[in-house]
Amino acid sequence: MRKKIIAGNWKMYKTAPEALELVAALKKEIGGVTAVDVVVCPPFVHLGAVVDNCRASSIAVGAQNIYWEDAGAFTGEVSGPMLASVGVKYVIIGHSERRQFFGETNETVNKRTRAALKNGLKPIVCVGENLAERESGRTFDVIRDHVTGSLAGLTKEDMLRIVLAYEPVWAIGTGKTASAAQAQEVHKFIREILLKMFDKATADATRIQYGGSVKPENIAELVAQPDIDGALVGGASLKADSFAALVRNSMN
Ligand code: 13P
Repeated sequence: MRKKIIAGNWKMYKTAPEALELVAALKKEIGGVTAVDVVVCPPFVHLGAVVDNCRASSIAVGAQNIYWEDAGAFTGEVSGPMLASVGVKYVIIGHSERRQFFGETNETVNKRTRAALKNGLKPIVCVGENLAERESGRTFDVIRDHVTGSLAGLTKEDMLRIVLAYEPVWAIGTGKTASAAQAQEVHKFIREILLKMFDKATADATRIQYGGSVKPENIAELVAQPDIDGALVGGASLKADSFAALVRNSMN
């Protein structure tokens, strides 16, 4: 049985006071939830403060990126040892916005994933097709390429600590959710790829989140699908009431 995982990707939102306000409200509303794993992923500058404020709760904290070297002359980058040292547990890797705007490729996603694992962090590795790719019938080719490229050379043991997130780019921030059936079809396909790359036990054990316009109103139908194990949430994670409702509705 895979434990569901709901993660809030705050993207580039929230000043320091806003971040603390959100986390305080989340702690009050869902700070004791253990039936699903709850993660918040604020911008780098707030990580330490958010970790400190989540301490007496079941909410874990994740980063939104990681560099693959541990230290060095890499101005502007943040490394695995740095993230681990402030108490971060997860890291989102290869989000479509990074693939689209910051030159992220399967190869760099793979390097970042290895760096996260080496530093005891749990990678949330994102894959997903864009609208042109879906409309030209290339969804499955793109997903196969993202999954095999991003996870190349990793072991079954590594996979025990990795979460995958399927985020169709056309559903991100657009209000257009993939239907539960559309999402399930791709999640099932991802599990079949994992079976070929690793083995059945690994494919069965890997958690695959869905992301793209997930809201309190549609989470229940999504997580009712056999291969959808939670959500990576953008917009609806920025307000305590909607994220708390979404977490609660994922448990029903
Ligand atoms: P929205 O939930 O705002 O569509 O964003 C999804 C996403 O990109 C989460 O990583």
